[in-house]
Amino acid sequence: MRKPIIAGNWKMNKTPAEAVEFVSALKEKVGSVTEREIVVCPVFNALVPVSGVIKGTSIKLGAQNVYWEDSGAFTGEVSVSMLKASGCEFVIIGHSERRLYFHETDRTVNKKIKKSLEAGGLTPIVCVGERLEERENNTTFKVVETQVKEGLSGLKPDDMNKLVIAYEPVWAIGTGRTATPEQAEEVHAFIRKTLSGIAGEDVSNEMRILYGGSMKPENISGLMKCENIDGGLVGGAALKVDSFVKLINYE
Ligand code: 13P
Repeated sequence: MRKPIIAGNWKMNKTPAEAVEFVSALKEKVGSVTEREIVVCPVFNALVPVSGVIKGTSIKLGAQNVYWEDSGAFTGEVSVSMLKASGCEFVIIGHSERRLYFHETDRTVNKKIKKSLEAGGLTPIVCVGERLEERENNTTFKVVETQVKEGLSGLKPDDMNKLVIAYEPVWAIGTGRTATPEQAEEVHAFIRKTLSGIAGEDVSNEMRILYGGSMKPENISGLMKCENIDGGLVGGAALKVDSFVKLINYE
């Protein structure tokens, strides 16, 4: 059984004080939910204060990015050990906004994943997904396959089940235009098949594949009924306590 993950990617939103206010309210409502894994991913400077508030609850902490070196002259970057020391258990890697605005590639995604796994204790949430023109050109499967294969290249099968994949069609992010359950499931099933080719069927059946892209309380149930959708990586609808709680409590 794959335990669903509902993860909030807050992107560049919320000051440390606002983040603390959010998780203080959140833990009152869902702090003891265990049948779903709940993750919040604030900006870097809110990680430590948020970690203090959620300690002892079932809410987990994730970062939105990481660098592959341990320390040194890399202005503006944060290492795996620094994230772990800030209370993180998850890290989002290769989000489409990072690929688009900060020139991340499958190669840098691969280095970040390897470093996160090498140090242990930090679960990468690896984002893949096609842009609108790629969907319209019928290259969705090719694009996603390349992102998965290159991003995970050289990983040991033993490490593969420590990963979470997020399928985020770029055309559905922040647009209000969600993939239909059929569209999403088709790609999720394809991703699982690709993972199976890399790590074998047993491992790929254990791996969780999240959907991201305008997921909200109104559409989560339909998506979560799909066999290969194991949770959500949510942007906008994760920024308000009420809607995030509704997402966590989907039926
Ligand atoms: P939205 O839920 O705002 O579309 O964002 C999705 C996303 O990018 C999560 O990482």
